[in-house]
Amino acid sequence: MKNELILILDFGGQYNQLIARRVRECNVYSEVVPFNISIEKIKEKNPKGIIFTGGPASVFSKDSPKCAEEIFKLGIPVLGICYGMQLMTYTLGGKVEKANKREYGTTNVKIDNSSSLFEGFDDVNEFLMSHTDYVEVLPEGFINIGSTTSCPNAAMENRKKKLYGIQFHPEVNNSVNGTKVIENFLFNICNCSGDWVISSFVEDSIKKLKEKIGNKKALCALSGGVDSSVAAVLLSKAIGKNLTCIFLDHGLLRKNEGDEVEEIFKKQFDINLIRINCKDRFLNKLAGVTDPEKKRKIIGEEFIRVFEEEAKKIGTVDFLVQGTIYPDVIESGLGKSSVIKSHHNVGGLPDYVDFKEIVEPLRDLFKDEVRKTGLELSIPENLVYRQPFPGPGLAIRIIGEITDDKLTILKNADSIFREEIANANLHKSINQYFAVLTNLKSVGVMGDERTYDYTIALRAVETTDFMTGVWSKIPYEILEKVSSRIVNEVSHVNRVVYDITSKPPATIEWE
Ligand code: XMP
Repeated sequence: MKNELILILDFGGQYNQLIARRVRECNVYSEVVPFNISIEKIKEKNPKGIIFTGGPASVFSKDSPKCAEEIFKLGIPVLGICYGMQLMTYTLGGKVEKANKREYGTTNVKIDNSSSLFEGFDDVNEFLMSHTDYVEVLPEGFINIGSTTSCPNAAMENRKKKLYGIQFHPEVNNSVNGTKVIENFLFNICNCSGDWVISSFVEDSIKKLKEKIGNKKALCALSGGVDSSVAAVLLSKAIGKNLTCIFLDHGLLRKNEGDEVEEIFKKQFDINLIRINCKDRFLNKLAGVTDPEKKRKIIGEEFIRVFEEEAKKIGTVDFLVQGTIYPDVIESGLGKSSVIKSHHNVGGLPDYVDFKEIVEPLRDLFKDEVRKTGLELSIPENLVYRQPFPGPGLAIRIIGEITDDKLTILKNADSIFREEIANANLHKSINQYFAVLTNLKSVGVMGDERTYDYTIALRAVETTDFMTGVWSKIPYEILEKVSSRIVNEVSHVNRVVYDITSKPPATIEWE
């Protein structure tokens, strides 16, 4: 079955991914494509509608991204947002002007709710405006359907040709009822039916993977994280035992995590899983190392070495499975919207495995859709909603040298913290929370005895992108309980502190 499609032409705006997500939240499949996609390609894709994103450029500039006039003659509805509206105006013979001053912030927009785009809206609505240029004269055939005090043409339509422009950003949360504008475009104007659901994605992907891979062999590096887990289960549903997963347990995972991963994949899904326990090998390499960047480097390199050795034993495989997801594709593929990639994301293809082709079953999905897919595949909720965990694992949460004893202390303290956060039902609202074993020892008293033991730091942050974040205001009684349990249950810890710094200036991890 072919999904209904909305094409999102990327003109370099900040919120392009958000637009795609909003459309998918309405159960309509959307794809972000470069603004200069050819007319032939558009026809081939046969979308139900097209959305032009905003962008930082000005239509007056010689090298600003433009589109062919033909796109408006395809009979496909178009919604131009911000720069998209200005470009529509410019291309169709209206007049765009430069304002002296940028208008930024949520603004009351008076709208004409007899337009299908604003069906069900009040006369005045708050939307986010962020622009310098504005539409002064509408193109022929268009009428005004929205205005603000400083922007007379804040929305326009050509009902007959199904062309719409809005100067504001419906995709952001500050635009109250913004999603409703997108919904109206999809259902009233593009006549979408909204049948994109994860269960049909899962069914469809399994079928496609079966056709693509057939009886050939695939290899997947399983980390226990959400993306690789979902990719592995999807693959195993398609090709069964022709999939081999390598799960490398470097001993730096959280308490019981290695066993949990093995249990789920071997028992529940009957996947061909090779678990390699190589804690000693990693600890030997890390002995005496205190510099965090060195730790990262050693772990990264050793990881590749072990994987290489194991992959060699398997021999040539036809497919290597990667857990690439849609934001990675948008960020690396288009490179238009200025997204800053974190230094943690390892790009490129591994050259240490002998394979013929890459298979990326999640490359069309956003993170929340990957999670939904995981649930649809019956992957346990605690794995599907697992908080991010860095590749170097607990190595960067033990300040200073890593030893087996320190690992045990940290695993136990961290496990108590996680347990109490879950008991307090805070595990879905705090995006990342963990314990850190500081390299600090201090004096304490236990019974009548003087102690001289470690300090554990607790870290908990709320964030959406992990680039910035605020420390979580965990209720005192929960912190108290965690602290008391840690000092009572974990040997060699006599003090617990809570990290109350946001990012920036601090980072989420301590190293
Ligand atoms: P920071 O500490 O930079 O972390 O604020 C932001 C996010 O990235 C994770 N992180 C890492 N992930 N390898 C990874 O795979 C790393 O070396 C690494 N360092 C930090 C961190 O857990 C947080 O989610």
